[in-house]
Amino acid sequence: KFSHLVAEPLDPINLVIINFAKNTDPKKVMLGVGAYRNEELQPHIFNAVKEAEKRLIEDENATYEELPPEGHAEFNELVTELLLGKNNPAILENRVASVQCLGGTGSLRVGAEFIKENIKSEFIYFPDPTWPNHYNVFGFSGAEIKHYHYWNSELKGLDLEGFLRDLNEMPTGSIVLLHACAHNPTGVDPTQEDWERIIDVICQRDLMPYFDAPYIGFASGDFDRDTYAIKRCIERGLQFLISLSFGKNFGLYGDRIGSIHAICQDQETKEKVQCALGSITKSMFGSGSAHGARIVATILKDPELRENWLNELISVSQRMQNMRKLLYDELVRLEAPGNWLHIKTQIGMFCYTGLTPQQCENMIEKWHCFMLKNGRMAICGLNTKNVGYVAQAFRDSLNF
Ligand code: LMR
Repeated sequence: KFSHLVAEPLDPINLVIINFAKNTDPKKVMLGVGAYRNEELQPHIFNAVKEAEKRLIEDENATYEELPPEGHAEFNELVTELLLGKNNPAILENRVASVQCLGGTGSLRVGAEFIKENIKSEFIYFPDPTWPNHYNVFGFSGAEIKHYHYWNSELKGLDLEGFLRDLNEMPTGSIVLLHACAHNPTGVDPTQEDWERIIDVICQRDLMPYFDAPYIGFASGDFDRDTYAIKRCIERGLQFLISLSFGKNFGLYGDRIGSIHAICQDQETKEKVQCALGSITKSMFGSGSAHGARIVATILKDPELRENWLNELISVSQRMQNMRKLLYDELVRLEAPGNWLHIKTQIGMFCYTGLTPQQCENMIEKWHCFMLKNGRMAICGLNTKNVGYVAQAFRDSLNF
């Protein structure tokens, strides 16, 4: 019955996890996966999450009842406010549909189904490069996947002119997948001025943005900054989709907690969209998991827990910025040929080093520094103890 199946190649990120686990070198360094690690290179549990869990265990009214298809109502309300700000006109006008999903990936997958059933767009445009799993997820959207210019390898920065040119040539009604902040894999985001120009063309060409936003708050420690482009699109009157994940900013990776939001033209449309999104979750997985939603809601509604969480989020994002600086300083100290400023100016979880596949091969095979072969390095795999070793590996790999 099943023998005709052909083994699919593994996702490069999963492959790096497997290869790292098999490697026995004591100096090995994990720079492959975008899952935050602290200075001890351990998974980080936020204090506010621990406290919220304690409260949930002690809550005598808590049950294991299943959530409705649209998920935990209070969670949906609180995360919409977190995303847009309580006084955002779209919230005040009651035109944001919000549905809880299974992690960021599950949210994108619900979005892909929604596009297929209700938008029926001919094309969806991805930045080149993008997160590899976008290809799997949006393969279900019914839209043909195309690309727009994003990374300028010479500048090791944004190819804004290429991006704008491509936007200008997209057929009206196309969907444009945008990374709200901390672009994965490049760590390069448009500036606020760049966003203005990008959004201008999106409006002129009547395109539909779809923001993948797994890193809000986590990228800079500042929600206003990390959601700038989303809020500007609302101010410009656009209607669009947003997928959120609470894996990174609450550290709730395994709880698979995320949400999808649609900015609609009015309340009546919002009710219909909410219903459509709910019927997709119902047919795909029933409803999201209650536990993660309760943790997030408990933190967001309690001013003290919320502040504690926000402060810790700032220190998480600062640790990543410090690691960038340390790596840069080490490369300069070792006189590694080239300009490494981009390591410091990129943002978020990833550094797109600019190393060639051959150089990455040397990082992995000779130095056991596991990263993606496209040159992406997860910055949180660095700590004050291994950064010198990684810089040495880097320096050596430049010879290839
Ligand atoms: C990454 O890009 O490394 C993360 O989003 C994790 C994953 O599984 O892709």
